[in-house]
Amino acid sequence: MTPKSTLTGLADLDRAHVFHPYTSIAAQQADGPRVWAEAKGVWIRDAEGRELIDAMAGLWCVSAGYGREEIADAMADQARRLSYAHGFLANANEPAIRLSARLAALTPPGLDHAFFCNSGSEANDTLVKLVWYYWNLRERPGKKKIIARDGGYHGVTLGATSLSGLPHMHALFDAPLPGFLHVRKPHFYREARPDEDEDAFSARLARELEERIVAEGPETVAAFIGEPLMAAGGVVPPPRGYWPKVQDVLRRHEVLLIADEVVCGFGRLGTPFGSHHYGIDPDFMTVAKGLTSAYFPVSAAVVADRVFDVLAEGSKEHGALAHGHTTSLHPVGAAAALGNLDILEGEGLLGRAADLGPGFQKLLSDRFGDHSLVGEVRGEGLIAAIELVANRDSREPFPAARKIGLRLHELGLEEGVICRALGDSVAFCPPLVISEDELAEAVERLGRALERLTHELESSGGA
Ligand SMILES: Cc1ncc(COP(=O)(O)O)c(C=O)c1O
Repeated sequence: MTPKSTLTGLADLDRAHVFHPYTSIAAQQADGPRVWAEAKGVWIRDAEGRELIDAMAGLWCVSAGYGREEIADAMADQARRLSYAHGFLANANEPAIRLSARLAALTPPGLDHAFFCNSGSEANDTLVKLVWYYWNLRERPGKKKIIARDGGYHGVTLGATSLSGLPHMHALFDAPLPGFLHVRKPHFYREARPDEDEDAFSARLARELEERIVAEGPETVAAFIGEPLMAAGGVVPPPRGYWPKVQDVLRRHEVLLIADEVVCGFGRLGTPFGSHHYGIDPDFMTVAKGLTSAYFPVSAAVVADRVFDVLAEGSKEHGALAHGHTTSLHPVGAAAALGNLDILEGEGLLGRAADLGPGFQKLLSDRFGDHSLVGEVRGEGLIAAIELVANRDSREPFPAARKIGLRLHELGLEEGVICRALGDSVAFCPPLVISEDELAEAVERLGRALERLTHELESSGGA
């Protein structure tokens, strides 16, 4: 436990000097930071000595669990042997080469080329640039627009912000940039018409996509991006039949497909990638988070052979592709990824969500499905959310200003579980190493938080 005087000192330094991501500066100045001290498995301890279950694996990323000695050792060994080497002009190092080959073996057939970056956002920006580069090489320079989805989250760099479909990410940032378009969120509970089943809803979404492509002019549309299962937009599994129908439309109009696997990748849905789970055959994949379980910032823009071949041919005329980071192919990052993949594969964690998922989803439905404040319980594998509503019958949401999801999240922290508020949906995305008992304990703790929220609302005059 950190002494009180040290904690106060740290909080003062934080207020004075740390500019936090996704944080209200006013709130940070008023409340100070929450300082974490150590973690093991799914348990994380704050500097005051309180231990919580991290049911969000950090930010959907610590798949192998905290405190894995094997990954720490792999990183330390590599840092001693070769702490850095860059990748420009065909410079390489053994861990980065082995990681590329390992990724190619894990991804669906034909996705064999990894371009390494540091974050999911950068990998998505890389892919936007590669899409544009590709169509220029194919001598179809008019094909530039990228279609994404309302509710999608693809990161915070300029391109990734523009791809994302969350209004608060655009307001005040002058985003999205021109040429980034958004179509309807594939959320059955919120967006389907009363007479539609999931298949009919999927068919309409595909029709709307096609109408949009035709209205824009297929000769201007370069690519479509989607998370196999939408995560930060509220944990939204695609409705039945969605991906095959969407892919038919894209193929008809020669629109490339980017599967953003940053959350779904590396076993979250019980298969190596979300593309395996839903039968997606993408031209590009974005991978990050679970690639190293966030022991080191490594991501990759994965490129299909059919695209890579065009880029390779183009390089004969145009020379070097002028893109890359100082730390692309970082040997310590690659060693972290290899150590992490040894664990994910060696301990059967890539398939664990398929084993635990049905029981986990049932546990959530049993605990929350009939609750008066819960409109929907949804998820797949080891990712899920409950959506809070003011009225179950009409599905009326709470006024956004009440920040009811955030309040449940705070009560969850008090009960000793870390979930994540995504608007009024509250998400679970635990490390894949979580035991069944720990899962049950996490759900129980959120259950207690929900009862407290219910009492608070009753005593303040209801919804
Ligand atoms: C699906 C998806 N894509 C991209 C990103 C961006 O990744 P990063 O935060 O590493 O830039 C995220 C982050 O949560 C994500 O969920």
